[in-house]
Amino acid sequence: MIKANKNYGRLQGSYLFSEIAKRVGKYQVANPDAKIIKLGIGDVTKPLSPEVIKSLHSGVEQMGAADSFKGYGPEQGYAFLREAINKMDFASRGVELQDDEIFISTGAKEDSANIQEIFSQDIKVAVPDPVYPVYVDSNVMAGRSGEFVDGRYENFTYLEGTADNNFKPALPTDGADLIYLCFPNNPTGQVLTKEELKLWVDYALENQSIIIFDAAYEAFITEDNIPHSIYEIEGAKRCAIEMRSMSKTAGFTGTRCAYTIVPKELVIKDEDGNEYSVNQLWNRRQCTKFNGVAYLIQQGALAAFTPEGRAEIQELINYYLENARIIREGVENLGLTYSGGVNSPYIWFKTPGGLSSWDFFNKFLDECQVVGTPGAGFGKCGEGYFRLSAFGSRENVIEAVSRLTALKC
Ligand code: MLT
Repeated sequence: MIKANKNYGRLQGSYLFSEIAKRVGKYQVANPDAKIIKLGIGDVTKPLSPEVIKSLHSGVEQMGAADSFKGYGPEQGYAFLREAINKMDFASRGVELQDDEIFISTGAKEDSANIQEIFSQDIKVAVPDPVYPVYVDSNVMAGRSGEFVDGRYENFTYLEGTADNNFKPALPTDGADLIYLCFPNNPTGQVLTKEELKLWVDYALENQSIIIFDAAYEAFITEDNIPHSIYEIEGAKRCAIEMRSMSKTAGFTGTRCAYTIVPKELVIKDEDGNEYSVNQLWNRRQCTKFNGVAYLIQQGALAAFTPEGRAEIQELINYYLENARIIREGVENLGLTYSGGVNSPYIWFKTPGGLSSWDFFNKFLDECQVVGTPGAGFGKCGEGYFRLSAFGSRENVIEAVSRLTALKC
């Protein structure tokens, strides 16, 4: 008899952003004339840049000509894109990587969910709280969580980010083999300096842990001394996997292209003491379960790593950063505790009037027709907080801030 994977039974409710979409859909049906401003999920609103579009067109043309048509591509990504990424994102910052340490994929969401399967079942997983829910749910699905008790999974180590530690979690005290870090952080928008990130690298080296470093928002860093890559920290190639995404940086949320760095220096052992190259494990996993990103998408992505394309993309990022400034200043003027909005497209703030995250979500939607993301959806430490995304249009962002300012809680 077929049986369900009971680990799925341990998942809490539905996926956060699906739940929000469901509630907003219901509200829209009940209020068909409401002009809802959506600053919930971090989904971009600006179109792809002209250089990317040109390059996508060229990819389409190539697919339509017999002498340039492509069938299955390399599972790891085309050499031209891996090489361009290496040059533009890493070599330019003094980080030495080999092209075959870069794996092209359809998204950092997928990669951050899938990466756990190359590690043993009995490892101790450490996740931030608040956290991007994918890191947690993928390890629940894989059977590493134990039961959900008092708002937390009993087998996970939680790295708490609260106003008391300025949303910068302390190092784990009860063990951690696989550590998920995301900086600039989703959802708090907080960043770590090089010195602060070095503490994590040192911890991982000392404890033979691996850090999954989600750098999906690195392009939004505006301040000096904030590392864009974990490999700017000495020793990180021996303990870290880094994930990058083109979703927020180049407007690829719907187009889908990302990349994950798995250094060859990363070597781990199984329970019998056999050594494995993590790069080879991930390669093996991808070759079996993934057939690569579409050629024309990779061709389009390539434009983002040329000087012309990069300049256009920087304009998009600057636009969203200006939105972030507007939201941040609005929240600051209300006297609310907040973080983010300087090196990040997210602003994380304490709900006005001490409302719970979901109560504030409902009130903001009902009374202002603005959608944000309830902090409680990112974990226990997120209760009483709310996240606004800066990826809306300028007009909508200004309007949302003015409605927030007028809201009586
Ligand atoms: C978010 O809003 O947290 C992100 O857009 C989710 C994602 O990138 O999957």
